[in-house]
Amino acid sequence: MTQQRISIVGTGYVGLCTAIAFATKGYKTITSTHNPEKATSINKGIPTFYEPKLRESLQQVVRNGYLKCTLDRKEAVLNTAITFIATATPSKPNGSINLQHIRNSTREIAEALNKKDTYHLVVVKSTVVPGTTEKVVKPLLEKHSNKHCGSDFGLCMNPEFLREGSALHDALNPDRIIIGEHDKKSGDTLEALYRDFYGDKTPPTIRTNLPTAELIKYANNAFLATKISFINTIANICEKIPEADITIVAKGIGLDQRINPQFLNAGLGYGGSCLPKDVKALIAFSNQLGYTPAMLQEVQEVNENQPRHAVEKAKEKLTELKDKKIAILGLSFKPNTDDMREARSIPIINQLLNEGANITAYDPFATSNAKSIFGNKITYASSVVEALKNADCCIIVTEWQELKALKPEDFTQNMRKPILIDGRRIYNPEEFSQKLKFTAIGLGQ
Ligand code: UDX
Repeated sequence: MTQQRISIVGTGYVGLCTAIAFATKGYKTITSTHNPEKATSINKGIPTFYEPKLRESLQQVVRNGYLKCTLDRKEAVLNTAITFIATATPSKPNGSINLQHIRNSTREIAEALNKKDTYHLVVVKSTVVPGTTEKVVKPLLEKHSNKHCGSDFGLCMNPEFLREGSALHDALNPDRIIIGEHDKKSGDTLEALYRDFYGDKTPPTIRTNLPTAELIKYANNAFLATKISFINTIANICEKIPEADITIVAKGIGLDQRINPQFLNAGLGYGGSCLPKDVKALIAFSNQLGYTPAMLQEVQEVNENQPRHAVEKAKEKLTELKDKKIAILGLSFKPNTDDMREARSIPIINQLLNEGANITAYDPFATSNAKSIFGNKITYASSVVEALKNADCCIIVTEWQELKALKPEDFTQNMRKPILIDGRRIYNPEEFSQKLKFTAIGLGQ
């Protein structure tokens, strides 16, 4: 197959990482944004967010001419054969998703299609609730292009499952490909692209209709969130049983092949740009359909309560939090990212501040994003030692590798009172309990 030219609307995690993945494999790829600063940065080979190894890969594909970023969406569509829509679908206050970016980009794509006389495939990669591609994207494409979906242009829904922190690796090595197709030709075109892209390594591919593909993405993230809230529930039970340890329970059940060990790390709950938003959206969507998804509501509630456990443990150990110096280690929603969206550090720090505590926080990458959330309400340390100096208590919020490597002495030698709350289960309780006041999520005392 002659390599198709690809355009991607949106330069967020999914948009930029997908674009780099295509460009890395030798596809001429054009990304587009309306933000001139972002475009300049991408064209210089500088990603607009932190992601391991992304900068090197972006620099390489920009340098060798396989990827460019344009402000002109029409040019991007006219010069390519397939356009992916990867714009954000943020939450509205009621939990449902805001389709404004999808609508705007779809209209712009359609206006370009109007000027095109060859077949073009439009692929929705953004996370959208079932019915969106058929009922929102397709009518807008037909209206503004004056063309017919299925014959003049194709339409697919192709959810993306990449994770922050390993985005490029995930884009290049997916577990499966889901193709929701408006019609057979659309599905054939997209499947052919992926077969060309992955070759012998093409993962299992499921072809289905548009709403089923849309729902697969929500079901996937809702299931992951459910696994996390489940293990956190068991962790909370463990804490009431002397000597019980959630990490061993998780290991024990994870070896059952029907369960598997992944996403069974108990901790302070899930954050990020996807899991919280997608569970909320699925609940709102389901309610709209007249079905109350009680289980998903509970998954969400467990997650909202989980960060409080860290604060309660601090209170238990210190009796009161007023004027106490608390060191927070880790701010981002998970390691290897500077993303603070829905990070569990936010409710924890806010609650500690409400109780009158003084916070000194350290994160290897997320400090500048954290500053836009907490401003000068907390102190930002530039190292672990600086954060721990004279602290009365320390809470591990994100399991960065740098933090995993700490020894009990790092805490005892720097803190005023060596009280450590392991919110992500990164330390060996036996070793740490011997040398300091140690408590952890899911550990029976
Ligand atoms: C998630 C999905 O994994 C991905 O497939 C989808 O495309 C986007 O959403 P991401 O948000 O990058 O990816 O992070 P993920 O690795 O799923 O972690 C989400 C949150 O769950 C993090 O806050 C993490 O700390 C937490 N988590 C994860 C746990 O608390 N325990 C676990 O066992 C796993």
